[in-house]
Amino acid sequence: MTPSVEERIDWLRKEIRRHEYLYYVLARPEISDFAFDQLMNELKELEAAHPHLITPDSPTQRVGGAVLEELPQVRHEIPMLSLDNSYNEGELGEWYGRVVRALGRRPDYLVAELKIDGVSLSLTYEQGVLLRAVTRGNGEVGEEVTANAKTIPTVPLRLPEELPLVEVRGEVYLPRHVFLELNRRRREEGEEPFANPRNAAAGSIRLLDSRECARRGLRFIAYQIPRLRGKDLRYHSEALELLAHWGFATNPGWRRCPDVSCVHEFIAQWGERRKSLPFDTDGVVVKVDRLSEQQALGATSKFPRWAVAYKYPPEGERTRVKAIAVQVGRTGTLTPVAELEPVRLAGTTVTRATLHNADEVARLDVRVGDTVWVEKGGDVIPKVVAVDVAQRPEGAPPFVMPGACPVCGTPVVREAGEVAIRCPNPSCPAVQKARLLHFCSRSGMDIQGLGEQRIEQLLRQGLISDPASLWDLNWQQLATLPGWGAKSAENLRIQLEEAKGRPLWRLLVALGIRHVGERAAKLLAAHFGSLDALSTAKREELEAIEGIGPTIAQSVLQFFSSPPGQELVRRLQSRGVDPREKGTKAATTAPLAGLAFVLTGTLSRPREQVIALLEGSGAVVSETVSRKTSFLVVGENPGSKLAKARSLGVPVLDEEGLVALLAQKGVRW
Ligand code: IVH
Repeated sequence: MTPSVEERIDWLRKEIRRHEYLYYVLARPEISDFAFDQLMNELKELEAAHPHLITPDSPTQRVGGAVLEELPQVRHEIPMLSLDNSYNEGELGEWYGRVVRALGRRPDYLVAELKIDGVSLSLTYEQGVLLRAVTRGNGEVGEEVTANAKTIPTVPLRLPEELPLVEVRGEVYLPRHVFLELNRRRREEGEEPFANPRNAAAGSIRLLDSRECARRGLRFIAYQIPRLRGKDLRYHSEALELLAHWGFATNPGWRRCPDVSCVHEFIAQWGERRKSLPFDTDGVVVKVDRLSEQQALGATSKFPRWAVAYKYPPEGERTRVKAIAVQVGRTGTLTPVAELEPVRLAGTTVTRATLHNADEVARLDVRVGDTVWVEKGGDVIPKVVAVDVAQRPEGAPPFVMPGACPVCGTPVVREAGEVAIRCPNPSCPAVQKARLLHFCSRSGMDIQGLGEQRIEQLLRQGLISDPASLWDLNWQQLATLPGWGAKSAENLRIQLEEAKGRPLWRLLVALGIRHVGERAAKLLAAHFGSLDALSTAKREELEAIEGIGPTIAQSVLQFFSSPPGQELVRRLQSRGVDPREKGTKAATTAPLAGLAFVLTGTLSRPREQVIALLEGSGAVVSETVSRKTSFLVVGENPGSKLAKARSLGVPVLDEEGLVALLAQKGVRW
């Protein structure tokens, strides 16, 4: 008997939850990403066709969508305290001593678990369904971030048991590789990178746009059940087991310890091992295991007495600031950089550390000659975290950011609401150098043989200015310059000739339009197909592209309407740098050029094969039906897309119709 829609939806949700758990919590997937997407797509289509069956705990509700004006404030039923810190065995011993004295005996057991360096989050479930997620805030009142929390794949939207009330607390974090990628993208898009994964997680969980939050790649590890109705627990360790049983990701390798020496062992064991975990940890949390003992111990106004954090010593070193230089970046932003006496730190020699911006320099009050503490942040760039004021040489003046660009002397500007101070001169040699470096970089036009030194040399000689001028170089003359020869000049000539054939998206990244990194560039290139088409695009057309929001649209419009932007495009085009994208409206020679297809239901061939065939012939295949869709292709058991196509008057083809259309266009099925 074929299952009812309700039964199918129910089965799909269970199956998807099981696969999410296998993938994200256990890291042991049983099916391919493609097969998973198919389950999810089927569920989405069924829900779209039967909207009354959508429930807030359905896996489809993870994609985000809600955009808020501000985050509502919510009072915590039980305050979210922080932990008292200890930094060595002695201090840990003192805490244990206080516990023993307060209880009048040794506690039953202790639990040692890693302290994850993220931000805490409280989740409330009623009748097993996630109702609310709230940040710690000031401990008494936090901010409601339910829509964002739902996008985190390791936050279960429902629990396997329908208990009347459960509160789960844990840590939201960003895996290190996700953080590095996020920062890489932010740099590429001209945005300020985050200082470390913790700040990135804190910023991401508080985003007002949950769809953006979904893209950040946050994760959650549960560490406590402060409220539980309908079930009794006696030990914190039981809570950890229950959390894992419910499908939460929990602390790796937590240990139940009969005494403090076992805790010391745990701390020593994880000292090195924690560095190979995919996320940052900054210590170990030690808790009294028996909940009745926790209650008896209670809390001070700030910390529970039943738990303490042991902090691993940070990986940092002391050194001296020799000078404070100011660098000028691609967008003209001035960044203060401390030049240091060389010092070994986590396996590398450090000679420079970023001071981020004027506000950071003022906050730290770093001065030339100061003895400072430098640490490797989550990112590879080391930073100055503290100043030893006692060691300051007498009369060292405070550092002030220059009022004029240190390279070209143009007075700097600070835009309202921005921390950054910028050199507004587009012909500033420092800006030109940074722009050229970005243009030639591996993520841009990928032009090899033009490193920083050569670009500086050519700029100094007045042989190049903007990216287009690279194609004006005189090869005979180049071969005679110091450090060059006939061979290297010829190599560069070939590189530049080849670069003309690079895909359009690379050129778009290389132009350095703010907020346009690889992802946005690919979307724009696929949609517009040429610089000309993109440069005349209207706001509405830009914003109508899935994945392009108002910020990117604004930035693109600004670039192409600015005289320097227009001039650069014109100069590049006149030198033959004007790539065209295949499969878009620009490529009119492909048999299906200009046609947009959407597929629904099961066809006689695997979906990906049909997509490859259509795209290979110049068509665009998308997920959603809109007025721009040329044809909806319908297989067996079509989803809601069919109704949508009919309501919009989009022509519908069955498989036979598609085959006929293809034959007419000379494409073999
Ligand atoms: S238990 C009363 N366990 O560390 C606080 N906290 O510095 C009970 N944290 O706010 C918290 N990993 O955000 C606990 N395994 C863990 C933790 C952990 C990280 C965070 C948590 C807390 C902060 C205190």
